[in-house]
Amino acid sequence: MSVFGRVREDLATARRRDPAARSNAEVFWLYSGLHAVWAYRVANRLWRWRWFFVARWVSQLARFLTGVEIHPGATIGRRFFIDHGMGVVIGETAELGDDVMLYHGVTLGGRSSERAKRHPTLGDHVTVGAGAAVLGPVTLGDGCVVGAHAVVLKDAPARSLLVGSPAKPRPIAPVHEFDQQFFVDPGSYSI
Ligand SMILES: CC(C)(COP(=O)(O)OP(=O)(O)OC[C@H]1O[C@@H](n2cnc3c(N)ncnc32)[C@H](O)[C@@H]1OP(=O)(O)O)[C@@H](O)C(=O)NCCC(=O)NCCS
Repeated sequence: MSVFGRVREDLATARRRDPAARSNAEVFWLYSGLHAVWAYRVANRLWRWRWFFVARWVSQLARFLTGVEIHPGATIGRRFFIDHGMGVVIGETAELGDDVMLYHGVTLGGRSSERAKRHPTLGDHVTVGAGAAVLGPVTLGDGCVVGAHAVVLKDAPARSLLVGSPAKPRPIAPVHEFDQQFFVDPGSYSI
């Protein structure tokens, strides 16, 4: 997909997910969560070319401008959306599937300083609420929903709701088929 195609997809994702978004122009110019994702894509390309210093420089510039720190070595799928931006941290070995959504203040961090896989893996259609922390090399299956300010330290199967600290996964009833075009609205689950 071309760069313009990806940008169009990102704008559509933001407008679908944020009821406050009124126009593509508004999203393009004013959504710092999207600006951070675009900067990450540049930084990640540089990282894969092994231009590590420049990649980190781009990432830190984006952090300065948006308040979102995404390590250029992280792996992130399509239609990734960060609502509100500010205070999000995504570590080097984090892996995110498609259609993942994070609110402000989310940490996808490590619990050790080993040079190994030490950050979380999130499946497709995972939503993480404001201020939540998912720590260590844990895996959250497709469609998991992490509540605001939860602290997740253990793996969770697909379609789990995780609230509290430490969060224990509870199954959630599916209301949507997984579909590339739709995201799982955390408010549309019954527990
Ligand atoms: C987790 C969440 C998705 C659950 O929403 P829901 O499906 O409507 O579920 P309910 O509100 O019925 O709550 C279900 C249970 O989880 C508890 N719960 C919900 N959110 C919680 C949270 N953030 N922390 C701790 N417990 C929470 C409720 O008290 C309830 O507990 P109970 O079954 O023991 O009574 C939602 O509360 C949430 O935190 N969303 C994040 C949204 C966000 O970050 N918004 C920021 C916008 S700026």
